[in-house]
Amino acid sequence: MDYAQITAPIAEDLEAVERVIVENLGSDVPVIPRVGEYVFSAGGKRFRPALLLLAAELAGYRGARAHNLAAVIEFVHTASLLHDDVVDNAGLRRGQEAANLVFGNQASVLVGDFLYGRASSMLADDNDIRTVKVVAEALRAMAEGEVLQLGRQHDVDATEAGYMEVIERKTAVLISAASELGAILGECDGASRDALRRFGLGIGLAFQLMDDALDYVGDDARVGKSHGNDLAEGKVTLPLILTLRVCTPTERETVSAVLKAEQVGAAEFKTVAGLIRRYKGIEGTVARARAQVTACEKLIEKFPDGREKRSLLDLAGYVVARDR
Ligand code: IPE
Ligand code: IPE
Ligand code: MG
Ligand code: MG
Ligand code: MG
Repeated sequence: MDYAQITAPIAEDLEAVERVIVENLGSDVPVIPRVGEYVFSAGGKRFRPALLLLAAELAGYRGARAHNLAAVIEFVHTASLLHDDVVDNAGLRRGQEAANLVFGNQASVLVGDFLYGRASSMLADDNDIRTVKVVAEALRAMAEGEVLQLGRQHDVDATEAGYMEVIERKTAVLISAASELGAILGECDGASRDALRRFGLGIGLAFQLMDDALDYVGDDARVGKSHGNDLAEGKVTLPLILTLRVCTPTERETVSAVLKAEQVGAAEFKTVAGLIRRYKGIEGTVARARAQVTACEKLIEKFPDGREKRSLLDLAGYVVARDR
């Protein structure tokens, strides 16, 4: 089942989310809407809004608050991408030249800040301290994850546990927040809210695991980002961690040299990607993503059966089947 089919039942809600996004990109400082429209109109999967809407539906809520909060989460996500592309020296985002290349690092960082600010006021308008708290905690975790990752660059001794800690904070917590906000909107009891929170967390871990696999084996045109960026930035992600665990000492030296290099060219990428292929680093990464999704499926068992639950399970399945 493709992504469009999975999100078809919430197509109208997703359109409403787009309207909220466009309405909130306005500013009398002209550069802001220009950069904002550039990055939002390029597309993006709107995965977090879709998850929030589907979780809310499962919890029994459908309406304007979900549209507004989905836009808040997408603003936070997109702000983090603007900042991320500066931090990661990225060249391609959502299939087009990254904003940092078109508008510069300074404008990217500052418009990212604007999006965080606008998201905060939209959240204040939602007028529910529970939703404020969930998003605030996610923002904190995302920053912590990124800083933690920064300290672990170029490290051949990086561990799977350390990697999981980073991806939980930098990516999974926001995806978890999207799911938990759905539960709050549906006024779930504590146990159900926790189930949806943990569901989002597992889905979020799987999402980043797949992202890190796609950084080695994805098709740039399809993914809309350049592959090989993680290695070029000296980032030791799970495909490489699993490879380093079993490769020979000589191969480990080779990887170590590439991770520390100023420039990583096509030849170096090919060498490291070849080792990852030989030692099945992608298969191991995808297997862990699948295990996360399988565990997630159990978490929502107790919710009523029906189209809402099937859609959410389909969305979970999409995470490990995705190629973009
Ligand atoms: C990219 O997120 C950043 C990660 C957390 C891996 P998405 O893959 O959701 O990016 P868009 O929004 O579809 O462009
Ligand atoms: C994703 O990390 C985490 C974010 C909060 C953006 P990546 O650095 O792997 O994301 P992409 O691959 O650039 O989208
Ligand atoms: Mg990054
Ligand atoms: Mg990046
Ligand atoms: Mg990535």
